[in-house]
Amino acid sequence: TLLTLLALAASYLIGSLPAASWVARGRGVDIRTVGSGNSGATNVLRSLGKGPALAVAVFDILKGAVAVWLGRSLGLDPAWAALCGVAAVIGHNFSPFLKFRGGKGVATSFGTITAIDPLVGGGAFVLAVACMWLTRFVSAGSILGAVTAAILVASLGRPLWMVGVIVGLAALLVWQHRDNVRRLQAGNERRLGDKG
Ligand code: G3P
Repeated sequence: TLLTLLALAASYLIGSLPAASWVARGRGVDIRTVGSGNSGATNVLRSLGKGPALAVAVFDILKGAVAVWLGRSLGLDPAWAALCGVAAVIGHNFSPFLKFRGGKGVATSFGTITAIDPLVGGGAFVLAVACMWLTRFVSAGSILGAVTAAILVASLGRPLWMVGVIVGLAALLVWQHRDNVRRLQAGNERRLGDKG
């Protein structure tokens, strides 16, 4: 319906708001030219520090959650409301404000998945943070979190639409980390706490 299309378009726009790029620009930094070059909270942490990184992470998580809530509050069925969250992730990764480039969708996928199913989001969060803590690779933790979410949703007897949405988000997240995977294999991925 028209309402569904409007909700998806609004969600895409919400997701496309590039908090990392704007916060960095506000401090005179072009996020694409520092650290990994990624428009995300991890790269803001590297180049600007904890406060701005936390603000970006919270904002980007909320973009996903707000999109799902928007879909629900408009009375869409749960599957379409979940697709509003997917639209927010697509907006984040392919933002019209950044010439259709963007971030990797970690925070926004987490917000979306947690709004869809808090147990799946929470389980993925615990393993992702444990991996980040132990390895100091945010990318490796993010990928592990995505794989965990996909396995959890498929093993908890959730409806097929939910399995499809979350496995799809996980696949997109892993694909967005292809350069990180190459760096991890080459042994030159940045660790938390490294500068630059
Ligand atoms: O925020 C995405 C994270 O998983 C990796 O970020 O900057 O190390 O490529 P980055």
